[in-house]
Amino acid sequence: MCGIIAYTGHRPAVPVIIQGLKSLEYRGYDSAGLAFEHSGRLHLFRASGKLQALEHKLAGGQVLHATTGIGHTRWATHGLPNETNAHPHLDVHYNLALVHNGIIENFQQLKSLLMDKGCTFRSETDTEVLVCLIAHGLEHTDSIIEALSWSMSQVQGSYAFALISRQHPGRIWAARKASPLILGAGTGENFAASDIPAFLPYTRDVVFLEDDELVEMDAGNWTVYRAHSLTPVSKQVQRIKWDVQAAQKGGYRHFMLKEILEQPKVLMDCLAGRVDRKNNTINLSELQGLPVPSRLHIVACGTSFNAGLWGKYVLEGLAGIPVNVEIASEFRYRVLVEEPGTLYVSISQSGETADTLAGQRMVRERGLPVLGLCNVVGSSVARESDRVLYTQAGPEISVASTKAMCSQLVMLYLLALYWGHAKDRIDSRTVRRAVTDLYSLPAMMEAQLPRIQTMAQKLCAQYARARSFFYLGRGINFPLALEGALKLKEISYIHAQGYAAGELKHGPIALIDNELPTFALALNNDLLGKIQSNLMEIKARNGPIIALTNPETVLDVNDRWEIPWLEDPLNSFLVLPALQLFAYEMAVYLGKDVDQPRNLAKSVTVE
Ligand code: AGP
Repeated sequence: MCGIIAYTGHRPAVPVIIQGLKSLEYRGYDSAGLAFEHSGRLHLFRASGKLQALEHKLAGGQVLHATTGIGHTRWATHGLPNETNAHPHLDVHYNLALVHNGIIENFQQLKSLLMDKGCTFRSETDTEVLVCLIAHGLEHTDSIIEALSWSMSQVQGSYAFALISRQHPGRIWAARKASPLILGAGTGENFAASDIPAFLPYTRDVVFLEDDELVEMDAGNWTVYRAHSLTPVSKQVQRIKWDVQAAQKGGYRHFMLKEILEQPKVLMDCLAGRVDRKNNTINLSELQGLPVPSRLHIVACGTSFNAGLWGKYVLEGLAGIPVNVEIASEFRYRVLVEEPGTLYVSISQSGETADTLAGQRMVRERGLPVLGLCNVVGSSVARESDRVLYTQAGPEISVASTKAMCSQLVMLYLLALYWGHAKDRIDSRTVRRAVTDLYSLPAMMEAQLPRIQTMAQKLCAQYARARSFFYLGRGINFPLALEGALKLKEISYIHAQGYAAGELKHGPIALIDNELPTFALALNNDLLGKIQSNLMEIKARNGPIIALTNPETVLDVNDRWEIPWLEDPLNSFLVLPALQLFAYEMAVYLGKDVDQPRNLAKSVTVE
């Protein structure tokens, strides 16, 4: 996820753009840039690293007179976070400058077509392909807006972009598809941005663009069109009452809630560029030429470890590959017994966790292969892996990891399908059905999340005085029980222990009494009967039970929490947000600092 802003009006454009990028930094911060038009030329400034690196480049420059420009703060998805790949990108003749947020899924095909027509490229980005496509479109249309309409009909994927042209001073074009873009309608000035905070200090009048809408604007006017027919669309101007801080969270109270509720979109973004929607096949180009591993050894910490343990069940079940999953801080200090054909997998949202990185370096020193599964492009784990799969979840601001785990599960499931098919353990029809089901998941999640949040609010009030919780699960739900317990501990400070339900009678059941509630994952799968027995043992000792379950299961518990049944492993994508929201609502109920819990850091870069 990146942040874009465009401005045209009576003020100096550069300070407005820098201010706007600062308020969008939560959307991405590995490089930044801006471009403006002045005296018939496009001026471009870009820098890798934080925004202040760009500000240093601009300091003292002759930039204050420009009144039209575009800016971008990047969260890399294609190409490393360096200056060459930073936005804005210009076409080969320096007539157009463009900033973009999203993923152009068919950018490789478009790039080849444009190169066949003599286009050259300076960066690895999909964005540069887009601006060159628009320039190519201009060669056979009469106006920029027609070139944009044609270009958008060629592109597959998601985008929100803003464009300026050397030949059209004072004018800006912007469009969106599946990535946010909002108009700020000022007095004698107009804005377009990924999010409202970017221009809130200047105007509270906003126009929300819909998918496949295109806007043309200058300082005094703006017109919205349907992108493909170029028919004008009348839009309602709305007045925003939020403050800037609230606006950065999209109006949500905490980043954690925003990131939990973003998971449907994260799931789609994970699939972007990895699934061929036409025939529903999986294409993990990042693994090109990598042999199917005979064993996997997953190394991670915290939530990423829980994701890896979930992956074990899916990878062994679908791909028939034996999987070891190990906590990095243990792995790195034990004697490594090498097993031929093993692929080591580092799972890390930040890509900077010291223990995970140390374990990976130990493996690499022996010349053994490492696959990184990371969210931060260009992070240490990513750079030091032989191959890397980016989870494309966008920046995760809240210390408690939520949407990153959702994206890790998606990638592990895709890997299981991909390798299972490569080994002829699952046929193309099964893969197609699985991919179809995956694509239907975001809509189901969107529909269910409000109900799940309401139930979480109800139950946390009932159980807020608990001094500890058991979280129980079996099979694929055991790692999720561990994750539910971790979430509750780290943000509500209530002790919780995730346990394999079958282990209860081997000691822990001694703890059960009427003051120690159990949160049981009693989903309707082949292990339900076993869970039912465990819950009867708890009930017999007066232990209160919350059961997260599916309709029609027969359970004797204190609180049933029903979510729709989906065939495993897809049910996990409803179980996970329920666990996250229960912990979130508990922390809110208890008045805790949800986004920055005490004693915790977002990335544990120390041992
Ligand atoms: C999860 O909510 C925690 N913030 C923590 O356990 C985290 O998952 C762990 O530190 C690993 O971080 P990583 O994924 O960035 O390596």
